[in-house]
Amino acid sequence: MTDDGKRAAGEAAAALVEDGMRLGLGTGSTVAHFLSALAARDLDVAGVPTSEATADRCRELGIGLLEVNAVEELDLCVDGADELDDTLTLTKGGGGALLREKVVATLARRFVVIATEDKLVPRLAERFPLPIEVVPFAVAPVIRTLERRGFAPVVRDGGAYRTDSGNVVVDARYPGGLEDPAVTDVALTLIPGVVTSGLFVDLADAALLGRADGSVRRLDRPAEPVAS
Ligand code: A5P
Repeated sequence: MTDDGKRAAGEAAAALVEDGMRLGLGTGSTVAHFLSALAARDLDVAGVPTSEATADRCRELGIGLLEVNAVEELDLCVDGADELDDTLTLTKGGGGALLREKVVATLARRFVVIATEDKLVPRLAERFPLPIEVVPFAVAPVIRTLERRGFAPVVRDGGAYRTDSGNVVVDARYPGGLEDPAVTDVALTLIPGVVTSGLFVDLADAALLGRADGSVRRLDRPAEPVAS
């Protein structure tokens, strides 16, 4: 059932792609549907992959790849999310690709999120933990700081898990959910040893939310920025 929703969202995003576009290519199971639908359209497009897994899948499907340092701007980035709220603030990084995903999303003139409708929540990080990428050297002090600030942090796979950039991921629930994700994102990023948080604020322009019946609900970002 969830897979039908993911496929619907992925296909709806593939329909937005135009010939000649340079894309940001996200990571995850919803993006996998997007990539398949994109390849089926046989357009002349290429994209920056946000993970080695996505790069491998693009090679299999014949989707051209771009090197991130060789592009100044992308036309469209399509990526999944772990959770989102109605301001289109996202949490990402369940698949561990949060750092590259954030870099690539900031290069795009337009960022479209694809997810199933059940990922839309009133408050982020209560149900699904917020991924935070941390350099291996600083894991213990970062954990203590997070606990002092009210998070319930867990080191992914006891520290054995490494991102494509060689870092550890800490998954942190916040009981009751985050009150002000924009403030939290800045505060987390200022902790020494934190590389980035999985909070994506003021980045997504639209969300395509797939449902099990194959329909897709579209949400657009409110005109006012979330962070001022
Ligand atoms: C990868 O690190 C994540 O940000 C994914 O985009 C996110 O976890 C959504 O993945 P699924 O589409 O597999 O749910």
